[in-house]
Amino acid sequence: MLTCEELLRRACQQLDSDTPRLDAELLLARVTGLSRTSFRAWPEQILTDEQTGTFQALLARRRNGEPIAHILGEQGFWTLTLKVNDSTLIPRPDTECLVEAILDLDLPDGARVLDLGTGTGAIALALASEKPDWQILAADNSPDAVALARENAEALQLPVAVFQSDWFTGLPARTFDLIVSNPPYIEAGDEHLSRGDVRFEPASALVSGADGLDDIRYLIAAAPDWLVNGGWLVLEHGYNQGAAVRAILARSGWASICTGRDYGGNDRYTLARFPHGGSGDTDAQ
Ligand SMILES: C[S@@+](CC[C@H](N)C(=O)[O-])C[C@H]1O[C@@H](n2cnc3c(N)ncnc32)[C@H](O)[C@@H]1O
Repeated sequence: MLTCEELLRRACQQLDSDTPRLDAELLLARVTGLSRTSFRAWPEQILTDEQTGTFQALLARRRNGEPIAHILGEQGFWTLTLKVNDSTLIPRPDTECLVEAILDLDLPDGARVLDLGTGTGAIALALASEKPDWQILAADNSPDAVALARENAEALQLPVAVFQSDWFTGLPARTFDLIVSNPPYIEAGDEHLSRGDVRFEPASALVSGADGLDDIRYLIAAAPDWLVNGGWLVLEHGYNQGAAVRAILARSGWASICTGRDYGGNDRYTLARFPHGGSGDTDAQ
């Protein structure tokens, strides 16, 4: 019979992960129903044979590269715990930086907000949790992702209406004060697609043409028809795509173009407003 500490120590040796101890503790916490801190406080705890067997089975999945979030079926985002599955992206911490940037904007009371390519519903639900008076719609073209986002909205009791829609094509006719999207933006053939967690995520959530910008170009072209005068577009993009996204926006008549950084200090999202009355300040920063 092994103690928790001995099991964790052996598990860490077997895991080819950037965070072996964290991964092993999360799996052991799931199996035992105990908190991660309890393994440090009482390292001599003994598991039952059944618990040890279940832990070894989960560990084998992690050794095979399966993301922890898929094994646990959930992922923390903002202040929320979201259900996740293989129909869409596992929400990333850096996407929280878009949520922060949106909350810092001076949007009207009762703002009408649209989250395109919502996946688990991460961005829409984080905004809804902070701004109960906002009218938030979310959309994804994957039926399974739509079902997942609806399940998360229901479980969290947050009022987000989720539509199945190929970008704007299946949405009710209305205009928005802000459209946000974390669209697919990885280049087809990018070597990172064969490494780590992304191997277990669908290409439909990740890849967007030869330069990764096909969906971003489409959204920048189509969004003005769906925005009020001076309405905002907020797009997540790759760390090396900020200049290209700013240039597309500037060429298309957008104003107040500004790129923000993620937790690692990399360019991660760009905001812009669309002035329907004519172009305003189109300086890219
Ligand atoms: C990078 S994931 C982002 C998921 C989520 N917003 C997040 O930040 O975690 C991109 C999402 O866009 C969706 N998507 C891809 N193409 C789409 C399209 N044509 N119309 C609507 N959604 C699309 C994918 O299904 C996927 O859920």
